[in-house]
Amino acid sequence: MKFFIDTANLDDIKKAYKLGVLSGVTTNPSLVVKEGVKFEDRIAEILQAVPEVESVSAEVTPDAESAEDMIAQAQELIKINNGDKNITIKLPMTLAGLEACRALTKQGVKTNVTLIFTVNQALLAARAGATYVSPFLGRLDDISEDGVQLVAKIAELFRVHNLDTQIIAASVRHPDHVTRVALAGAHIATIPFSVIDQLTKHPLTEQGLAKFAADWSKAVK
Ligand code: E4P
Repeated sequence: MKFFIDTANLDDIKKAYKLGVLSGVTTNPSLVVKEGVKFEDRIAEILQAVPEVESVSAEVTPDAESAEDMIAQAQELIKINNGDKNITIKLPMTLAGLEACRALTKQGVKTNVTLIFTVNQALLAARAGATYVSPFLGRLDDISEDGVQLVAKIAELFRVHNLDTQIIAASVRHPDHVTRVALAGAHIATIPFSVIDQLTKHPLTEQGLAKFAADWSKAVK
């Protein structure tokens, strides 16, 4: 399973990129607004900051309701950074989003269909040619449904029907989500920097470091 970072915060993206574990970035309208920056400018900055990743998801804005509006926005986004191949157009799971997905796929544009909460939605997106689908596991867990189980079912469905759409496990809240979606067959987990940081931690690692430091203070110098 690969890691994407789920943020529009440039510092966090740069920190994660330096670790060498990052294969992509996902953003959404809420994450961009949180940063208080202009959408297109931030996407351009992100594309420049992470030249060697496979995908940077830029989501069409909520005011683009028709497929035509979404495709028009996508064309503008693709122009950023001279049509960088890494840019992925993130589209909502709606009828218009599916139509835009098919049209953009035909043009060779990468797409990420977002806000997936059922297996049927994932199947439709895959049939529309989506490069990625993003099931939101944390938000399902929030309403007492099993987000990891959804990822497992989508993975099984894609395997049985030989669909090459990749599953991005999204709305990931903690390290146990990461382990479980990896075992469930997600191709990618998109996670905030705080969760990347948590993945490096274990109390015995901390204790071990403290003991090495204490012992080293007594070393012959
Ligand atoms: C995915 O691409 C979304 O940006 C994201 O994972 C949403 O997560 P949230 O439920 O924490 O807002």
